[in-house]
Amino acid sequence: MNPPDFSVEVVKVGLPGGQRVTVAVVPLSSVRRAWPIQPDGPISRVLTPAEIAASGMHVVLERRLAHLAGRVAAKLALLSHLRGQGYFLEARELGLTQMMAGPQEGRPVAQLPAGVPSCDVSISHSHGLALAVVASSGRVGVDLERVAPRSAAFQEEAFTDVERAWLEQQARVEGRTLDEVSSLGWCLKEALVKCSGHGLRAALQQVTFDGWTVTRDRQVHLAPLTDGPDAFVRLVQLKVPGAQEAGVTGLLVVGQGYALAVLHDAREAHPWRVESRPSVLREASR
Ligand SMILES: CC(C)(COP(=O)(O)OP(=O)(O)OC[C@H]1O[C@@H](n2cnc3c(N)ncnc32)[C@H](O)[C@@H]1OP(=O)(O)O)[C@@H](O)C(=O)NCCC(=O)NCCS
Repeated sequence: MNPPDFSVEVVKVGLPGGQRVTVAVVPLSSVRRAWPIQPDGPISRVLTPAEIAASGMHVVLERRLAHLAGRVAAKLALLSHLRGQGYFLEARELGLTQMMAGPQEGRPVAQLPAGVPSCDVSISHSHGLALAVVASSGRVGVDLERVAPRSAAFQEEAFTDVERAWLEQQARVEGRTLDEVSSLGWCLKEALVKCSGHGLRAALQQVTFDGWTVTRDRQVHLAPLTDGPDAFVRLVQLKVPGAQEAGVTGLLVVGQGYALAVLHDAREAHPWRVESRPSVLREASR
């Protein structure tokens, strides 16, 4: 396996509270270059035949490439994370499947060889980038979005009054646009529902945060996002109703036109109601 095939960027991030997560970013262009899949090509060296076959569920090529890029990012994050723990594995010794049914349908699952400690994994892809995060305990959730204008109707449906007030205050204090912090707020919510596995089936007005406490600034370098001079990079403890101290921690980034939330959730249970798909999803996924 040769990670440079995919111009991958892999970083280890120490979150507030001591949890260490591994984040990998793969540009979609590098997976597009490796297309079509050859038996001895870069994609086949990282993904198993079963993983490649599963990607065929996406009939639109761009969507399939995004799926493959997310799986490549997840594999490379897993390999690096496990290497840091003394387990030197080959990409095809690891498996990536997903929950096939139930309230967590779609949630990615890492299948590791016997004797290797379990890992949690989360994947996001957006506008030319795929990103994955891995942790050894608790649950992770990641969401990457392009910063985009968010309508008043979107703000009202996606966020509680407390969240809207917090995001507006952050825009003022941090000198960022409302579109940037609203996109970041949306990433936070999606990362939260990915941690739980509920996805956007969870009622968004129940998946809430009261704000966050910044613990350190600008300690993380994630090349495609943080390269610009005005990147916003924060390690945070999220204030979540009912969660213990350090229950949800994370990395928030705004840069190069993207918003990113990487969350680690130590909570065992979520009291969220599950409802039908919210209409804000249509606007968020433009
Ligand atoms: C998971 C979800 C939040 C992703 O949102 P998105 O911004 O469109 O897409 P992202 O690129 O950020 O994330 C996609 C990845 O999330 C992961 N994912 C999918 N379902 C998930 C779940 N229930 N929990 C955690 N992660 C999930 C997958 O790895 C997926 O990538 P893949 O499709 O290539 O395998 C959203 O698709 C969702 O809520 N899905 C499940 C609920 C649903 O579809 N309900 C429909 C009926 S109510």
